[in-house]
Amino acid sequence: TQSTTVYRAAILNFLSDPDIDGEDAYQFFQDGALVIENGKVANLGEASEILATLAAGVKIVEYKDHLIIPGMIDTHIHYPQVEVIASYGEQLLDWLNNYTFPAERQFEDKEYASNIANFFLDELLKCGTTTALVFGTVHKQSVEAFFEASEARNTRMICGKVMMDRNAPEFLCDTPESSYEDSKSLIDTWHNNGRQLYAVTPRFAITSTHEQLQKAEQLMQEYPDVYLQTHISENKDEMAFVAELFPDAKDYLDVYDQYNLLGKRSVFAHGIHLNEREHQRFRETGSSVSFCPTSNLFLGSGLLDIKELEEQQVAYSVATDVGGGTSFSMLQTLSEAYKVTQLNGNKLSALKSLYLATLGNAKTLQLDDKIGSFKTGNEADFAVLDFNSTPLMALKQGKCKTLAEKLFAMIILGDDRAVQATYVAGNCVHDRDVTIHSDVNI
Ligand code: GUN
Ligand code: FE
Repeated sequence: TQSTTVYRAAILNFLSDPDIDGEDAYQFFQDGALVIENGKVANLGEASEILATLAAGVKIVEYKDHLIIPGMIDTHIHYPQVEVIASYGEQLLDWLNNYTFPAERQFEDKEYASNIANFFLDELLKCGTTTALVFGTVHKQSVEAFFEASEARNTRMICGKVMMDRNAPEFLCDTPESSYEDSKSLIDTWHNNGRQLYAVTPRFAITSTHEQLQKAEQLMQEYPDVYLQTHISENKDEMAFVAELFPDAKDYLDVYDQYNLLGKRSVFAHGIHLNEREHQRFRETGSSVSFCPTSNLFLGSGLLDIKELEEQQVAYSVATDVGGGTSFSMLQTLSEAYKVTQLNGNKLSALKSLYLATLGNAKTLQLDDKIGSFKTGNEADFAVLDFNSTPLMALKQGKCKTLAEKLFAMIILGDDRAVQATYVAGNCVHDRDVTIHSDVNI
């Protein structure tokens, strides 16, 4: 049975990077129509043109004074760190030991993990984020709980079990063998199961032995289309410890490179303090850096220079890194990305920001043939943004003349309140003014 629904609103869609292609990089329809058929994008255009082509009786949903954009994508986030947000006073290594590791211990309990997974996914959807690349904990059941919760919402999510076998409390350590077996079993069950995808997840160089990194390498060889996610060069003390643990590596990235963990589906969070050789290896392998501005500010890690990455032709995406990051909202994250870029003496435009949060992030995940834009046939994940979401936003929007100004105000002043509704594969999964009861018991 064919089901068709048309969404009428202002609509913004990217075709490419606006810093490179200017006005050719995006489509903007002040009075647009997005046609969804069976959970996929069927058409996009001016409402006047599209509505004339439709059969009588097709359902039309109108969002007056709203902006529809593709569902946003978060390329680095930890679902077990919801409660770690806003933990006072530490930088990375002490923050991990004092706050994060104790919190992650609770995910040995599958029921606890399910509760948090459900909370986490609802929070993302409230913020208009429909896809994320997500860390679980060391516990296999944490990832089972996550995928079950994502499957129930039909969200496209990428998740992996953390591999860590040293320099962490014993209660959070696996072994090379158990991490391999657990990851393998999760891949066999969940990778490409519906919309779920798997990422091999060594936490970072500090917490894996040589033997465990070899197991990660083996997994990547046995399953060439899974992702790899980890952390790199976030914090100076972290980097000094890595240099101590791997004296033979040329630099931090070389640790991962020695185990052949680089590639187009490899996402390295932070990368604040990379050298030119590392940039070159990122470029040569198509690996990407995930820029996490709220986390980098909150943990005092540093200011990533995205213009330098562009000059070096290093692919990068934008992410929240909750719970080192302080917000689930990609709008707030883009706002902090703007400020970090200002401190580096550069600019980050609103169009570029929204490109990054949608098509740009989809490209770094090699998923732009499925999500991140309203290309015909793509999965119909989208967010409906409200230009009048708060009195201040409404006042400011009234003063904005151009689209660029309106989008910039949306980013700088926006958060979850600016998201009127979120759709996943054509179904409304969040409406700010309606409580939608999911079929998952919490
Ligand atoms: N490096 C290793 N683990 C983590 C983590 O959980 N959060 C952040 N921000 N950095 C890390
Ligand atoms: Fe992280």
